[in-house]
Amino acid sequence: MPPAQNADRAKVITLIHRKGGAGKSTIAVNLAAVSGENNPPASPDDPCPVAAAGTDPQGSLEDWAARVPEARLPFDYIITKGRLGEIPELVQDPAVRRLYVDTPGFMETDPDADLDADPLGTGPAAKAMEEVLEHTDLALVPLTPDWLTHRPAEFTIERILKPRGIKFLVVVNMWDSGSDRPDKDTGLCKELEELRDWCRQREYPFAAQAIRRYKIHAKAPKEGLTVIDYAESGTALRAREDVYKLALAVEQAL
Ligand SMILES: Nc1ncnc2c1ncn2[C@@H]1O[C@H](COP(=O)(O)OP(=O)(O)O)[C@@H](O)[C@H]1O
Ligand SMILES: [Mg+2]
Repeated sequence: MPPAQNADRAKVITLIHRKGGAGKSTIAVNLAAVSGENNPPASPDDPCPVAAAGTDPQGSLEDWAARVPEARLPFDYIITKGRLGEIPELVQDPAVRRLYVDTPGFMETDPDADLDADPLGTGPAAKAMEEVLEHTDLALVPLTPDWLTHRPAEFTIERILKPRGIKFLVVVNMWDSGSDRPDKDTGLCKELEELRDWCRQREYPFAAQAIRRYKIHAKAPKEGLTVIDYAESGTALRAREDVYKLALAVEQAL
């Protein structure tokens, strides 16, 4: 399937990271919710201008979305689980303005492939990922304080995104602002600064706003909540604010 040519087509924002657990699904659902809240349909019978696609066979996006009361879910979602053709169709749908795609982690299919070979390989999962990437306008790569996620993040950028010329933004996720307090002289938070330095050293653009680690994010799927329905006080408000600021940065980067 060739990339969509229509300049007025939906913009596609894809969460991608080779490793599971960095926050792809959390960020995809919450960004779609914020975007959907800001772009309601012209009338209640019209389709939502904002859509989300779950391409992960594990189904996090749809399991979560299915628990959110319909009136509180301001986006439509589709489940591809790797089926081909649905993303291109959504992207060409004139009613859709934004599409947030949640992807599975991935691994090379061929351990003996040349180092510079494309690591997605050729299997069905690779084809599905390829289709998503062909339509992606902006990739978001979550980076967490967990050091073991750093190399897979770099791999995702160097081996998947850069060779395809896909614009990307690193998003620091699960930053623990409770323990990583600002230094009293510099005002800088050591762990956060290390993550930002990691990006700077590689010349990777990163979102100014980190997504802090809050329990409410981990509880939200079970409770059928997205950030747009977090309480507007205390830590819930701070958790909510992070995603709203990220949503602004994403729109600016598009
Ligand atoms: N900022 C955060 N604060 C607290 N928990 C988070 C945060 N981001 C993600 N999580 C939790 O971490 C786990 C992995 O996140 P998830 O979005 O499922 O990652 P991925 O989709 O990349 O595998 C989930 O349990 C999720 O609720
Ligand atoms: Mg996921």
